[in-house]
Amino acid sequence: MIFSDRFCQWIGHLKLSRVVICVSVILFLVPFVTHYYLSKYESTLGSLGSNPMRHTLEALGDFSTMNVVDLKLRIEEMLRIKASVSTELRELEARRSRLQREAAAASAKADSAKAEHARAAAELQRLRVSADQARLAQLEAIRRDSPELAPPIQILPSRPPPVLPTVSSSSEVHCRMFSCFDHSRCSLTSGFPVYFYDPDIYAPLAGAEVDGFLKTTLRQTLGYNAHLTHNPNEACIYLVLVGEAFPFDKNPSSTTESYKLLLNETAVKSLPFWGGDGRNHVLLNLARRELAVGSGDAFRGASIGRALIAQSTFTHEYFRPGFDIVTPPALGPPGGDVWVDCAPIAPARRKYLLSFQGSQPPAKGRDRDQDKNLIEYLQGIEKAAPSQDMFFLQFECDPPVERRAVLHIGDWALCGTDRSRRAILRDSTFVLILAPADRVYTTTALLQARLYEALRSGAIPIILGGDRIRLPYDEVLDWRRAVLTLPKARVTELHFLLRAISDADLLTFRRQGRVLWERYLSSVQASVDSLLATIRTRLNIPAQPAAPTVGLPAFNDSYSPPKSEPQLVEAEQDETLGPLEAPYSSPAFRRNFTLGLLHGYELWNDWGEPFALYPQLPWDPAVTSEARFMGSAAGFRPLGAGAGGSGKEFSEALGGDRPREQFTVVILTYEREAVLAAALTRLRGLPYLNKVVVVWNGPSAPGAATWPESGAPVVVVRAARNSLNNRFLPFHLVDTEAVLCVDDDAHLRHDEIVFAFRVWREHRDRIVGFPGRYHAWDLNYNNGFLYNSNYSCELSMVLTGAAFVHRYYLWAYWRALPAAVREYVDEYMNCEDIAMNFLVAHITRKPPVKVTSRWTFRCPGCPVTLSADETHFHERHKCIQFSLR
Ligand SMILES: *[C@@H]1O[C@H](CO)[C@@H](O)[C@H](O)[C@H]1NC(C)=O
Ligand SMILES: *[C@@H]1O[C@H](CO)[C@@H](O)[C@H](O)[C@H]1NC(C)=O
Ligand SMILES: *[C@@H]1O[C@H](CO)[C@@H](O)[C@H](O)[C@H]1NC(C)=O
Ligand SMILES: *[C@@H]1O[C@H](CO)[C@@H](O)[C@H](O)[C@H]1NC(C)=O
Repeated sequence: MIFSDRFCQWIGHLKLSRVVICVSVILFLVPFVTHYYLSKYESTLGSLGSNPMRHTLEALGDFSTMNVVDLKLRIEEMLRIKASVSTELRELEARRSRLQREAAAASAKADSAKAEHARAAAELQRLRVSADQARLAQLEAIRRDSPELAPPIQILPSRPPPVLPTVSSSSEVHCRMFSCFDHSRCSLTSGFPVYFYDPDIYAPLAGAEVDGFLKTTLRQTLGYNAHLTHNPNEACIYLVLVGEAFPFDKNPSSTTESYKLLLNETAVKSLPFWGGDGRNHVLLNLARRELAVGSGDAFRGASIGRALIAQSTFTHEYFRPGFDIVTPPALGPPGGDVWVDCAPIAPARRKYLLSFQGSQPPAKGRDRDQDKNLIEYLQGIEKAAPSQDMFFLQFECDPPVERRAVLHIGDWALCGTDRSRRAILRDSTFVLILAPADRVYTTTALLQARLYEALRSGAIPIILGGDRIRLPYDEVLDWRRAVLTLPKARVTELHFLLRAISDADLLTFRRQGRVLWERYLSSVQASVDSLLATIRTRLNIPAQPAAPTVGLPAFNDSYSPPKSEPQLVEAEQDETLGPLEAPYSSPAFRRNFTLGLLHGYELWNDWGEPFALYPQLPWDPAVTSEARFMGSAAGFRPLGAGAGGSGKEFSEALGGDRPREQFTVVILTYEREAVLAAALTRLRGLPYLNKVVVVWNGPSAPGAATWPESGAPVVVVRAARNSLNNRFLPFHLVDTEAVLCVDDDAHLRHDEIVFAFRVWREHRDRIVGFPGRYHAWDLNYNNGFLYNSNYSCELSMVLTGAAFVHRYYLWAYWRALPAAVREYVDEYMNCEDIAMNFLVAHITRKPPVKVTSRWTFRCPGCPVTLSADETHFHERHKCIQFSLR
């Protein structure tokens, strides 16, 4: 019986004994009394007329004797009794229902009191957990016996290098960093200042001007480099632009290979900070496109003291490994977006399996003969190859190229124009690069020009004779992942090798080549930055920190918008999701001097970039699991104090492989104050919330409306212009590694957010979030990619309208993503989330992670009509097409 069940609860919980007894007595009595009267009444009535036949027969017998009056009296008596009974019954009924109502009211009160109690208990639990965590944090702060290293002072030299005696030219060849470099000018905390000699004043070429383009470009690109200093006294490195030197007679009609040195030694040695022996000077000989044919070793036979040489042409004899640096020629634009120049990665196999275009000067000596055999062999392969393997091999240029310095080096001249070569390269799976016939060369500008072209067009370079070749920045760049190098003797196995490479490997080579090209070779800016970063990496000096965006605060210091009293929102849930703690920033810049050592390879060749230092990286290592329990426990919040656990223990601590941390919510909003206010209100009481950064995208300042309390600091920054890209600005206000990007109208429950945060902590390099989308090839859609939001079980994207990303990717969005993509986003006011997904996938080669129990996460606040929906999807198809270029 439902009523009595509730009743028992009621009794149990409230102990309202008086009411209880009273009601139970009544309940007991009601049936009794009712029964008594009813039976009495019924028996009376029953004896009269319950069986009319029998009564009539019986009555016939003593009717005469029966007194009519008596009968009447009895009937009246009975009627009276009946009336009295029914009155009493009605009264009883009324009382019963009144009591019932009272009981129901009391029970409702009990229920609400119970709920109140549960809520209070949950709140208490939350507070207790928070207090525990706060105590722990305090304890950790007290216990920390090694105080955090304060930013060390920047130690800089204060005088130019003192003049020392010159070194003999015979010992110059033995120069290495330990013998010829002055480390005292470059302290670990110096920041690696670089001084650039003004090329207009200091011209180290004899009788020649440094190329005007180079001068301007170099001055410009170094202006963007954070290491440039104008104070020569504090510099670590002195950069001298030598320009382009031609180690040959410029008279093309001359048949003698006269070797003419153009470097003016006197001019070099009288540079103001030369210090007698040229310590810490870098002489940069930058070859250029038109002249690539002729660039050579500008310093051969010259005495340059202890200076480092950076150029594209070196001989084995004079190259000093670990000291001199092979640079690419200055072939690209000064800087800017080089991405549009690139050929697509797919398909893996192109029209030609292998191509080569070049011509060699007339034969001379033994080495030349070897190349002749090589050519004959390659032509043989071409003839014998099955029809599906197309070759494009051209060993004589048409029209013939001028005989220029190629005479001297025995290098293969480039045929045709840049455009015609590019067309062939874009159609080639592999491209052949032949090492110069003259074996004294370890690298030449011409060979590097070929490498540059090949990588730009996505043709995988195969360097025959590559076993004696050095490629640019090879002390930091791993060229084995982008270029196939073979001894010339392997030419017989070349065809077999090319056929043996799988599509997946082929695409990996091509992609890696493109990564190296884009980052380090593509523009003058890239190659000069790489030169300086290579030297800096040798010295293990950290890069300059990446500059965060300083957002324009929407409210000045003296004004903060009125906070509205938080209206009591229905508690999101009763369970404790985690402690509410004071804001706690993620530790930053803890790996200044170890990052380059432990992750130097990845920084240069994989996910990173060596040009800037970031406060944290998604790939920062965690301590090993046992170290956490043996002395390195600070900051960790193991579940159940290490015993593990679920439920209560799980909700009390963050657990995981990482120390405790919090996240920042970044909300992009466009003049929708009410929607924003609701969003902020929903964040109340959210555990692990560090700060809310509202990016105000509207042209007008946020109004004076009251801002709801969200339980965490809220900062409002105004964007300089209305752009969806602003969502990913790396604001200095963000203090945590984890950034939760949300649309202002996305409804996320607290448990979902905390769950996603926990998942993100274990997948820090991925996008972890809620709205999943899918893109795939669709033959019906114009032979292109199709994008849909159908709830497919397979998905390829997680939109950043509600997703966790690592703070590093906010920088990557502006530094690694081609500017053309951001411009596209601005133009169409769409697709910034697709761009971010592609960027992260490009960097990590990993898919995003979708979380949530609600399969159909939608944004309920933004209804779209079907047609709007269709154009939306159409635009997004186009975005994907664009980004695939
Ligand atoms: C690491 O580098 C950052 C950025 O330059 C700096 O703020 C921080 O103080 C450095 N920390 C140490 C220990 O050198
Ligand atoms: C070499 O440099 C010195 C000093 O700058 C200058 O006097 C001399 O004329 C230069 N020689 C040539 C050939 O340019
Ligand atoms: C700060 O902003 C408020 C409101 O936007 C404005 O009234 C006030 O004059 C400003 N104060 C200063 C010092 O700019
Ligand atoms: C998504 O699903 C709807 C209904 O099932 C279907 O009509 C539509 O074609 C699907 N869209 C795509 C792009 O697959």
